[in-house]
Amino acid sequence: MAYSLRALKLVVAAAALAASARAALGACSKDIALRITNVYENSDVKFHYDYCENIKDGRGFTAGIAGFCTGTADAWEVIQEYHKLTGGKDAFSPMDRALAKLAKSGSASTSSIKSYCKVWSKLGLTDPRFRRAQDTIRDRLYFVPSQKTADKLGLQLHVSRSFLYDTGIQHGTGDDRDGLDALIARTNKAFTAPAAGNSSSTLAINGKKVDEVVWLKKFIKVRQDDLKNPREAYNRAGNAWAHTVYRIKSYAYIVSKQQYMFSKTVHILDNDGARMDVNCGGVASFPSRRRRRLDGRPLRRLHQ
Ligand SMILES: *[C@@H]1O[C@H](CO)[C@@H](O)[C@H](O)[C@H]1NC(C)=O
Repeated sequence: MAYSLRALKLVVAAAALAASARAALGACSKDIALRITNVYENSDVKFHYDYCENIKDGRGFTAGIAGFCTGTADAWEVIQEYHKLTGGKDAFSPMDRALAKLAKSGSASTSSIKSYCKVWSKLGLTDPRFRRAQDTIRDRLYFVPSQKTADKLGLQLHVSRSFLYDTGIQHGTGDDRDGLDALIARTNKAFTAPAAGNSSSTLAINGKKVDEVVWLKKFIKVRQDDLKNPREAYNRAGNAWAHTVYRIKSYAYIVSKQQYMFSKTVHILDNDGARMDVNCGGVASFPSRRRRRLDGRPLRRLHQ
């Protein structure tokens, strides 16, 4: 009896593992998800590890692959991660005290870290350890939390899991009224009855069977509404979010073409609405248009 119960538990655990393995983004589909967001934020499928600039958005210097900011503490996390890889003595060390202080106070000031961008850009180009530190913090702060939320919802399709990552990067994974969790709660509220559909995945939302693509389409609408009308005042500055609705149109396009699972190539719309391909590994056909400024900068809050 005890034995068979144990065996049953093992079977159940194995089935759960198989289900999560099927749902999670793999190396290639994750790479595509990251690059799609990179197109929206940097107009490029290549990751700009060396990017560094004061874009005067009240968050100090903005730098690297996820727009890490000296005034929101995520840049300081990257540098601490880099210190771990270098043993703590590297080109950033002389700035540590100033950086910790700016991160703690959320200050937009850059006067105490004048050589910051020079150091960041150089290391972004030359030191693989610094690039690894950026990857680690992007995953820790944005990718992993978004995928945990996707697991909780039982999302099986790459397109929805990828959209959750893109939402987490722009809206944050914290607990404010424009954050990823708030948008999901707003979406789920809409489902008071079963909602059938044609995708291969059915979710349990409020105890009702809801087709995953039907759910995703609703979530896309909820996020679009939030971008046009953010609930938090600090996300309304300059109406910047409203100018980023191109990322919503792009994901709506991916869904409309039924690109539910990502393999080698995903067709998206670029920030000017033109069709482009995003390939695993980044080889892409990208029309050489002007580089778009980083408008609608996400508020990158640490959730703690
Ligand atoms: C599912 O497919 C049928 C037949 O093509 C269509 O009529 C229906 O609108 C689809 N349902 C959804 C939710 O897309």
